[in-house]
Amino acid sequence: MNDGTPEQIHVTWGEDPSSSVCISWASPGEAENPRAIIRNATVIRAVLRTYTDGINGQTVYTYHAKLEGLEPDALIEYQVTADNDRNRAHPFSAAVRTAPRGRAAFRWTSYGDLSTPVTGWVLSSPQSRFAVQAVERFDPLFHLLNGDLCYANLNFTAQPEVWADFGRNVQVSAAWRPWMPCPGNHEIEFGNGPLGYASYLTRYSLPGNDTPFPGLWYHFQVGSVLFISLCADDVIYQDSGAFLAGPHPLVPAPCTGNAPIQPGTSIYNHGYSGGAQTRWLEETLARAADDASIDWIVVQMHQDALSSSKYGNGSDKGIREAWLPLFDRYGVDLVVCGHDHDYERSWPVRGCNRHVGRDAQSGAVVDTCQPQPVMTAEQPDGSFDTGHGTIHLILGGGGSSSPLRAYGVDPVSGRPQAKVITKRTRQGADALEEAIWSARRDTETGYGIAVFDVDPGAPGDKTSITIRYYHAVGAERMPTPDYELFDTIVLAKKPHQKSI
Ligand SMILES: [Fe+2]
Ligand SMILES: [Fe+2]
Repeated sequence: MNDGTPEQIHVTWGEDPSSSVCISWASPGEAENPRAIIRNATVIRAVLRTYTDGINGQTVYTYHAKLEGLEPDALIEYQVTADNDRNRAHPFSAAVRTAPRGRAAFRWTSYGDLSTPVTGWVLSSPQSRFAVQAVERFDPLFHLLNGDLCYANLNFTAQPEVWADFGRNVQVSAAWRPWMPCPGNHEIEFGNGPLGYASYLTRYSLPGNDTPFPGLWYHFQVGSVLFISLCADDVIYQDSGAFLAGPHPLVPAPCTGNAPIQPGTSIYNHGYSGGAQTRWLEETLARAADDASIDWIVVQMHQDALSSSKYGNGSDKGIREAWLPLFDRYGVDLVVCGHDHDYERSWPVRGCNRHVGRDAQSGAVVDTCQPQPVMTAEQPDGSFDTGHGTIHLILGGGGSSSPLRAYGVDPVSGRPQAKVITKRTRQGADALEEAIWSARRDTETGYGIAVFDVDPGAPGDKTSITIRYYHAVGAERMPTPDYELFDTIVLAKKPHQKSI
């Protein structure tokens, strides 16, 4: 008999987080009558979604139970089970809180680049267990997971097993509060769909986007904050998805029927949506501009438009060209990313300086679209008004085994310097620019978690988001559960004008 015991249980927001949540899980074999039981009363049949890994031939069974019509700010106790659940007498149970409605205080947390605690997998690290515990310690309403979830695509013949270890590790938090992901370059896998996202998309049930690319980008609103999650693989120049270095071909299991993959093969998803994602982004931002219930716009993506990491990827001009003008036009307040495994915060930026970069080899002038800081100090009251510019945060220190804490410095001027990728490459950035937009860089450790507290403010007052970044000093040498405060900033501005 198949084993339908639920595992890797996690919840995500539906279209409206104040009334809709999806419970998702997997099981070792196909479940019979998979279902969620809500408050010991309502039974919701789960929808089965499967895929068969195109390299090792393993079929993965996942289940998704969508809860709708819930009341806001309510604790929803649930169980998940099946007729062939080994724990059927005592099924897995947890509870998730729906979002408040209207202008309300709430907290979210964020990091990317988590990996798994099973150190046999490439880029996995024991710190990823402590990182999940850190989310629980800060007790947010939900968590943003900024791509590079588990690096399954670096473990070619064991991709589903890596995902399972990831799912088991995050369950202690993700079964209790939504973890909202965006895809990163390491979600692109050989054998799993033309774009490589079949595993990611099968496992996650995410808000819709009314395009031919469901699940890859979406938005949701909590309180007065609109969250927009993007798939930057679509616009970046760097070629950083699945890649086979060789020297030998990768030969899929015969049952898959798939041909061997030759050394040197990569999956390069630049431009895959044909502009559909950018059109959707602009429509979403234009609607938000007219929506009096939205005070703040926060964007989540994996790769970085503003990173001065020395040994990481650096900044990608593709994001600067495709999306930063839209962030400027529609006043995006904050962008959270991962990809470079460190912490960096920008000044608020708006617009860009043209033709001020240099080719990394020849020194010739290169147009890197260098973002312009609109201020290089806090306001007198210690806060930032992001009505004037967008702040970018690199939060790539979830838990992978390759943290970074070195940043570029111009050898002549001594000022911060960034690598910029301006064309397709697997070999690293081709250009350099002065990182005039860089405000704070963590040189002590690459590991950390950001905690965001939204205060809607009293009527007539400013609304604010307090951002505290906690880092795990010493985790490079010895994994640690201790995260201490490193950086605090406050974003403050008048609420949406139409609401006053
Ligand atoms: Fe990463
Ligand atoms: Fe990445």
